[in-house]
Amino acid sequence: MSSGSGTVETVTRPFRVLAVCLGNICRSPTAEAAIREAAAARGIAIEVDSAGTGGWHVGEPPDPRMRQAAGRLGLALDGTARQVSHTDFEDFDLIVAMDRRNLQDLTDLAPPGAVDRIRLFRSFDPAATGLDVPDPYYGGDQGFVEVVAMVRAAAEGLIDSLTDR
Ligand code: 4NP
Repeated sequence: MSSGSGTVETVTRPFRVLAVCLGNICRSPTAEAAIREAAAARGIAIEVDSAGTGGWHVGEPPDPRMRQAAGRLGLALDGTARQVSHTDFEDFDLIVAMDRRNLQDLTDLAPPGAVDRIRLFRSFDPAATGLDVPDPYYGGDQGFVEVVAMVRAAAEGLIDSLTDR
């Protein structure tokens, strides 16, 4: 017998992912766009944001060199930089660190119950040859181009891992 009363409704909301690097002007805004792109290609509704462990560039748009490299490869970057906050560890289901320094900084900041939500982003790329998305900030143009390819591969793997759940 079905009365309609006494049933428990599950309120579902989109899975939330936060991409984190040091400055939030190069790698993590690109990762944010790549995760969004990969999710859209699969028709998956997720919420994506990015932040930096450091606060030097808060309020700034992504680095022009990063915007140009990503834009040439068909990835538009938007938003302005913000710093990771304590509420991020409650608000996001998954926090992906661009490199091991970011992972350590996030782990130091996180409440104990949230540490298992933090992962190295490239760990989602089964073909990755390294653990880090290298910081392109002090290097040449090629570094920015490589970031785009690396974060796209990791974003594909991340979305694969969500669809496998
Ligand atoms: P991101 O790159 O962490 O990929 O945004 C950097 C941006 C700025 C600085 C370092 C890395 N900085 O030293 O100001």
